[in-house]
Amino acid sequence: MDRLRRGLVTCFLLISLSLLSFLIASMKPPVLLSALLCLFSVYAQDNIRIDCYPENGATQQGCEARGCTWKAAAAFDPVGTPYCFMKAEEMGYIATPTSDKQWTLTKNSGPKSPWGNDIASLKLSYKDIGDSVINVRIEDWNKRFEAGDHVDFPRKTEYSTEQLSVTVRNDSNPFSFAVNRKNGMTLFDTSIGGLIFADKFIQIATSLPSKNMYGWGEHIHQEIKHDFTRYTSWGMFARDEPPNSQGLDTKNLYGVHPFYMMMESNGHAHGVLILNANAQDVTTIPAPGYVYRTIGGILDIYFFPGPSPAEVIRQYTAFIGRPMLPAYWALGYQMCRYGYKSLQDMKDRVAAVRSYNIPFDVAYADIDYMERYKDFTTGKDAWGGFGDYVKQMHEWGMHNILIFDPAIQADYDSFQRGLNSGASFISWERPDEVMHSIQDLYPMAKNTQIMLVVVWPDRHVGFPDFLDPSNATQQWWIEEFKRYHDDVPFDGAWIDMNEPSSFGTNEDHPFFFDDPDHPNIDPLRCPTSGPDADYDVPPYQTHAVYHYGFGNTLATKTVCMRAVQGKGELRLYDTHNLYGWSESKTTQKAVYEATGKRGVVISRSTYPSSGRYAGHWLGDNTATWEDLRSAVVGAQEFNLFGIPYVGSDVCGFNGAASEEMCLRWQQLGSFHSFFRNHNSKDLPYQDPAVWPSVAAASKKANEFRYSMLPYLYSLHYAATLNGDTVIRPIFFDFPQDAETLGLSEQFMWGPSILVIPAVYESQTEVEGYIPLGETPTITYRFFSVYDYNYGQKVPLGRSLFPAPTSYNTPTFVKSGSIIPRAPPALTTVASRSLPFNLLIAPNEIDSSYNSQSAAGVLYWDDGDSVVEDINKNNYTFTQFEFSVTPKEGKVVLTMNVGPANAPSLPSLEYLEIFDFPSSPTYTSFILDGKLLSISSQKSKYSPITRISTIYFSTPINFSSAGKHTITWNCAVSMLESNRIEA
Ligand SMILES: *[C@@H]1O[C@H](CO)[C@@H](O)[C@H](O)[C@H]1NC(C)=O
Ligand SMILES: *[C@@H]1O[C@H](CO)[C@@H](O)[C@H](O)[C@H]1NC(C)=O
Ligand SMILES: *[C@@H]1O[C@H](CO)[C@@H](O)[C@H](O)[C@H]1NC(C)=O
Repeated sequence: MDRLRRGLVTCFLLISLSLLSFLIASMKPPVLLSALLCLFSVYAQDNIRIDCYPENGATQQGCEARGCTWKAAAAFDPVGTPYCFMKAEEMGYIATPTSDKQWTLTKNSGPKSPWGNDIASLKLSYKDIGDSVINVRIEDWNKRFEAGDHVDFPRKTEYSTEQLSVTVRNDSNPFSFAVNRKNGMTLFDTSIGGLIFADKFIQIATSLPSKNMYGWGEHIHQEIKHDFTRYTSWGMFARDEPPNSQGLDTKNLYGVHPFYMMMESNGHAHGVLILNANAQDVTTIPAPGYVYRTIGGILDIYFFPGPSPAEVIRQYTAFIGRPMLPAYWALGYQMCRYGYKSLQDMKDRVAAVRSYNIPFDVAYADIDYMERYKDFTTGKDAWGGFGDYVKQMHEWGMHNILIFDPAIQADYDSFQRGLNSGASFISWERPDEVMHSIQDLYPMAKNTQIMLVVVWPDRHVGFPDFLDPSNATQQWWIEEFKRYHDDVPFDGAWIDMNEPSSFGTNEDHPFFFDDPDHPNIDPLRCPTSGPDADYDVPPYQTHAVYHYGFGNTLATKTVCMRAVQGKGELRLYDTHNLYGWSESKTTQKAVYEATGKRGVVISRSTYPSSGRYAGHWLGDNTATWEDLRSAVVGAQEFNLFGIPYVGSDVCGFNGAASEEMCLRWQQLGSFHSFFRNHNSKDLPYQDPAVWPSVAAASKKANEFRYSMLPYLYSLHYAATLNGDTVIRPIFFDFPQDAETLGLSEQFMWGPSILVIPAVYESQTEVEGYIPLGETPTITYRFFSVYDYNYGQKVPLGRSLFPAPTSYNTPTFVKSGSIIPRAPPALTTVASRSLPFNLLIAPNEIDSSYNSQSAAGVLYWDDGDSVVEDINKNNYTFTQFEFSVTPKEGKVVLTMNVGPANAPSLPSLEYLEIFDFPSSPTYTSFILDGKLLSISSQKSKYSPITRISTIYFSTPINFSSAGKHTITWNCAVSMLESNRIEA
């Protein structure tokens, strides 16, 4: 839009200029002509070109040889306009109905696939799933690989007020289809052409109802909203590739999420999942529209109707599976580093951070703790006593997470036990493919077809097959966890390198030849020519290869695409992107069985439904302001992907952190569910104890976070139960406010808290947008809950808020909220045992001038029992409601305590109420019909701040189920005048 407007303005100026010169002096036809041409080019700009030459080196000759059109982009054409593009409107299939909701597609006589022969006859079908989801499938009549057969989604649906319908236009050549809402809004429309279905190249293109698109992953998006002013291609193929936030970088990262959400023009949202696990890419085109390409499987597309953004994610996660509930302690502050020299080194840093009394729950080491980087071993000398130290941490109320890489060295007892128990590993398909130069070095592996590769250990490793249909591999993995847990009683698992990552595949001089800590052993080589290159060098290799240029293949940094798993039934070409997902699933079970508790798993590689088993960290980022900012977007995106337990490596993994940036990152990270300071080796320490300023800011930020943990934990419960998001874009809660659609650098923390982090160097204030939310009777307002004007309403719209480093992050509570809080303590274990309190931020008085109200919830359980089914778990769910009737000076707080199964429900110590009209009468408090004693020393009220703090003489124990009511009176006077000012 902006570009179009700019183009038109330029044209207008040119035309005015030429008209002016025409009138004033001599005729200047060339100027006039160019101005008209210019105007024409703005209108006729190519917004829907489908790239026919995505690899480097496009030429007109090469282009035309593919049956495509060559036309240089014009001056006003969007950035990234391809010169070589398909004759899309002529290419595709003819549809003939075969039965209800099913068509035979026959390849038309239009242009052919540039990448392999078109499949002549296909099946198109669609079906409704439950009340709301529509599934459209385009597939071969012969069974092909389908991701949906392997990711065991629950496929549940949620009620929606909206129904979608599919229209198949079988009277046109090529045919097209559209997905519409009842009101006629078209959400998806393939009439722009370009449908291709070849064995190893599938393409579908659609136009879109708006330019407000969110999602697709895993990538670095510097803005939450996609950019439709240009053509942009994104690779989707799991790769051990660090994020880069310096400018636009469209490379594929660790996970794959072919899911997006769109906001239509009326505040309605819908979501789309393309369930496919092959290497794939998507190109957003200015139309607006996109071109989706994959090199295997089928087109299996699911449409989620919303109509609110929150409903889209509830519908999506009902279908793929709700996210797991992390252990309570896993919401505590975590600290790790790669490159601790020894256990003593780690102990010293942990002690340093503890000495500042910074709330701190989880300390761990990276692969350094292992004996030469082998899973399930402990470093002999430097790490002796590691298990005892973990026990010591448990006594402090702290916990420990250990890193486990999937790859197992082919020469030690864990590997031998795997072979003995029938575990399988990613393998070569045929005996003659095995690289004997490697295999024969390993007596245990010599007579196997296990594909041996290089990762961190000194010698070659094999990748366990977590899709083993016999479950022997999964069982062996679980047994190894149990066995090692006897040595080091860890509480959670961090699974890294599971793209899976292989060092130096196909390289003559891999990076580890220059690493003194890694022996120079031969890397894996995959076939790159001849008949066996059929999977490793397919005709179309996707943006995940083209992006990196010459010398890269799909197997770069990973195993060969020809490799097999699933007892030889599955090809890595198809299953590669599921590796991290499958490892997460088994590892969650391993943690349950080894620890007997819930714990937590975090995984680097993810796929739709990984959130059921694991959380995610945003990868090996760098200590830059840009990576700090993209973490704000990344955490929001992973919530859309159904993985709310997410965060970035605080202060940056690679590179040396600066004091100010580290301080800001600690502040931002304190809102992310997964909150870990992590650092790479050979870098200066960057834990908060390094700089007094960072220690002070971290203590303050962590104390705020810890005070909010009952709220944060309840948000995770809502995610697990209902598919709600924890961190989300502002538009989720204010979809009707169009200003919110492009807000990337602020976010909602659940429904009640809005956060505007400081993420720029030397910034002392943040500019943020306070959205306007309205129902027929209520206008939402926000109150500051940080150092600036604490407890006071902030103006709606754009404003500046002070954000010196000595303040906490600018944070605001939405009116109408009740937030359960806990006193901060040094660990979550300690804080859980303390009485809790409620922050009450009431709504404006309603239009009939009757009452102010607020509501909130608390989910509570023992924090650490395995949750197999959130509905059957032992918990207590409490709903709070609050109302003030100022005209009568009456206040009511009800606590509806659900069946109380939680072992130890905390008692309620005090209330903090914002915008409270007048002084409460402390002698008027009644709880369930009995007088309730208030501590008048500790309680206070100020008519200036209008904050009322009410301490009970003894904390109220309300662990018995049922409705409990506290009532009290406040003075009736001065109400009117107080209201006017607000
Ligand atoms: C299109 O499909 C309808 C039924 O859905 C059928 O009546 C009609 O004959 C079809 N047209 C063509 C050209 O196949
Ligand atoms: C493997 O485990 C899965 C789920 O745990 C189960 O559904 C399946 O039947 C098991 N397969 C075998 C061969 O035991
Ligand atoms: C709930 O607690 C009871 C009593 O402690 C226990 O027997 C039961 O197994 C627990 N249920 C779950 C799902 O953990």
